[in-house]
Amino acid sequence: MSANATPRHIAFIMDGNGRWAKKRFLPRKAGHRQGVKALERVVDACEKKGVEMVTFYAFSTENWARPQDEIDALFAMVAEFADTRLKEYVARGLRIMFMGDLAPLPQKTRDACARIVQAAKDNEGMIVNIALNYGGRDEILRAVRRVLQSGVKDVDVETLSDCMYTGGLPDPDIIVRSSGEKRLSNFMLWQAAYSEFVFRDELWPDFDEKTIDAVLEEYASRDRRYGSVKRLD
Ligand code: IPE
Ligand code: IPE
Ligand code: MG
Repeated sequence: MSANATPRHIAFIMDGNGRWAKKRFLPRKAGHRQGVKALERVVDACEKKGVEMVTFYAFSTENWARPQDEIDALFAMVAEFADTRLKEYVARGLRIMFMGDLAPLPQKTRDACARIVQAAKDNEGMIVNIALNYGGRDEILRAVRRVLQSGVKDVDVETLSDCMYTGGLPDPDIIVRSSGEKRLSNFMLWQAAYSEFVFRDELWPDFDEKTIDAVLEEYASRDRRYGSVKRLD
């Protein structure tokens, strides 16, 4: 049995920042800060492996239910991250995109995101996609509304796919969730049709290059059949 090739797209549900902080008697925000460092390690590791696209679930449409000070801290961190690390990523050729409804985000965060997307628009490196105020159901609804507005009488899978935030981009080959939880929490519901799921027990702030090696090893051993009876290679 030959192994799967390098995945084109890996998507991460970054979970467990709060538990990481709690274990150390620190505020949840300290966990998110370490979570940003983990994201940086994961971006570097995936780029090194030749992955074409990485997606990070940073804030869900349901996360507005959290305490306001945690929400404020998260969006302040996103703005800071865009102005610092994302700038570096742009300088080294990475492409940056955001998926989700950015309209309700603080103006400072939206401006920082827009500046980065603009600065990276001619880059050709790995795509770093950050999901902010993202929900899979919300994305599907928006896509359906766009199709309805175009006035067509019928719709097919390709047309609807093109109306998703990820239109024209590959679906995730792997969806990784940290911290032992085994659910999607409204993440990439449309794109997950044939994704391989990898659930890791490590909390997100503990993710590093070794975790990515383990994820890729696990992926290599999977038999992706797509409804057929045997491996197609
Ligand atoms: C994930 O960590 C980060 C975000 C949702 C922004 P959590 O904050 O959900 O951490 P736990 O699940 O409480 O440990
Ligand atoms: C999922 O994590 C959302 C993000 C990682 C941004 P949550 O911690 O919000 O998910 P639930 O509430 O445990 O399902
Ligand atoms: Mg959580």
